[in-house]
Amino acid sequence: MSRLDGKSAIVTGGGSGIGRAVCARFAADGATVVVADVDGERATAVAAEIGGRAVQADVTVAADVARMVADAGRVDVLVNNAGGGMSDDVLEIDEEEWEHDVALNLKSAFLCSKAVLPGMIERGGGVIVNIASVNGLAFFANEPYSAAKAGVINLTRSMAVRYGHHGIRAVAIAPGTIRTPIWQERVEKVPEIFEKLLRWYPLGRVGEPEDVAAAAAFLASDDASWISGEVLRVDGGLLAGNAQMARELVADFEDAE
Ligand SMILES: NC(=O)c1ccc[n+]([C@@H]2O[C@H](COP(=O)([O-])OP(=O)(O)OC[C@H]3O[C@@H](n4cnc5c(N)ncnc54)[C@H](O)[C@@H]3O)[C@@H](O)[C@H]2O)c1
Repeated sequence: MSRLDGKSAIVTGGGSGIGRAVCARFAADGATVVVADVDGERATAVAAEIGGRAVQADVTVAADVARMVADAGRVDVLVNNAGGGMSDDVLEIDEEEWEHDVALNLKSAFLCSKAVLPGMIERGGGVIVNIASVNGLAFFANEPYSAAKAGVINLTRSMAVRYGHHGIRAVAIAPGTIRTPIWQERVEKVPEIFEKLLRWYPLGRVGEPEDVAAAAAFLASDDASWISGEVLRVDGGLLAGNAQMARELVADFEDAE
C-alpha cells in the first residue's frame, strides 16, 4: 500500500519545478493528481508524464479557480504551490509590482483554499499544503514576495485552527533555494549563482524539487495525521543558524590575536 493511495489531489503550478516534482511524487505514491497551471501546455505535458489530469487555470482569478475545483471533483489534498516574484526594495517598487506578488503568492492560496474547503468540510477531512518560503520567515530581499509568503504561513495556521474540528489539516513548507526554472533569470545574470549560494547552506548543496516533494507527500499523508498548523523548513539547515557570520566572527577573533 502506497502512502497516498486513494487520495485525490490538486497541485497548482504543477507544470514546472517544485509543483511538477510534487505531481510526480504524489502519483508515484498512489494519488490521483490534477495538474493545474496557468500554462496549459506545461500542465498537459506533466499530466501525460505522470498519468494525471491537466487543468489550465490562473489561480489569481476566482472564476478559473472555481472551474479548476469543479473539474477536479473530490479533493482530498490541495497543494497551493503556484507562486513567484522577484520585485524588491520597498523604495524601488510600485503598487502594481506589490499587488502582483501578493496576488500570485497569497490571494491564490486564499482563493484555492476557499474553493476546496466546503467539500472537505462536507466529507469531514482534507489536507491543505501551502508552499511558502524561507523568505516568509526571515529577510532574503524580495519584499512583496516575502510579505506574501509570511501571509501564507499565517493563513496556514489560521485555517489549521479554524477547520481542525472538521478533520482538516493545514500545513506549510518553507523551502530554501531549490534548483528550478524560477531561478532562470538570475542564473542568466550570474551563471554561478547556485555555487555562490553553497556557502550559506550547512548541508553544502542547494535543494532539488524532489526534496520539497518528499516533504509534501509526507505532510499530505496519514503519517502526518496529527500534524497541523506546522511550518516545515526544507532548507538544508539554512535558518538553523548563520554559518558565514560564525566563520567571519571566528576570523575576526583570530586576526585580533
Ligand atoms: N525555487 C525556489 O528556490 C523556491 C524557494 C522557496 C519557495 N519556492 C516556492 O515554490 C513554489 C514553486 O516554485 P518553483 O521554483 O517550482 O517555480 P517555477 O517557476 O519552476 O514553477 C511555477 C509554476 O507555476 C505556474 N504559475 C505561475 N503563475 C501561475 C498562476 N497565476 N496560476 C497558476 N499557475 C501559475 C507557472 O506557469 C509554473 O509552471 C512557488 O510558490 C515559490 O515561491 C520556490
